[in-house]
Amino acid sequence: MSEYSADAFLPQDRSLDSLAEAVQSCQGCDLYRDATQAVFGEGSGRALAMLIGEQPGDREDVEGHPFVGPAGGILDRALEDAGIDRADVYVTNLVKHFRWKPAPRGKRRIHRKPDLREQLACRPWLDAELEQVRPTVVVCLGATAAQALLGRSFRVTQDRGRFVESPLAPFVMATVHPSSILRAPDDAREEAMRAFVADLRKVAKVVRRAA
Ligand code: URA
Ligand code: SF4
Repeated sequence: MSEYSADAFLPQDRSLDSLAEAVQSCQGCDLYRDATQAVFGEGSGRALAMLIGEQPGDREDVEGHPFVGPAGGILDRALEDAGIDRADVYVTNLVKHFRWKPAPRGKRRIHRKPDLREQLACRPWLDAELEQVRPTVVVCLGATAAQALLGRSFRVTQDRGRFVESPLAPFVMATVHPSSILRAPDDAREEAMRAFVADLRKVAKVVRRAA
């Protein structure tokens, strides 16, 4: 077994509750050291759609829930516009601990993308979630999740909003990360949001058909 892996920390009992409890003790990579807590996925074990982000952000790290910060606000609005009830989806992240660096001045914590080693170390948690939920649709939010799950050559800018062949689920799509909408210049934000909602409407369609 490689030095960096969550494998040894996964519980025998693979129920979502048991996993969520066990992840708090994970030391599969170094990210647990500087994070407040692990942030596990949330939602129904029978959810038809699973949304996968990158890693918890600053708010998520403090509150212990996925997508509750600014990006989560965008996600909530987009899901609503697309006609998807957040209660019908399972929301999680590729990596379960917040990776950050201190801001040059002040106390702000700046997001750092998890490196490949951390992404790989953390994968057993996500695989266990996928195994439990067995969603009909998987949506990768942003390039980090998309490339980790669909291949390093996957380009969100080119292939967003298209269902692709994948062993993860019958329907698998990548789209932008909601934080990219927050970062978009003022004159492009509305269009970015519209495109994001359009991608999610395709997900809504598949969910309705499967329900
Ligand atoms: N960004 C993510 O990728 N996931 C979160 O949970 C919050 C922000
Ligand atoms: Fe474990 Fe993942 Fe946290 Fe690393 S990021 S310590 S592998 S839960």
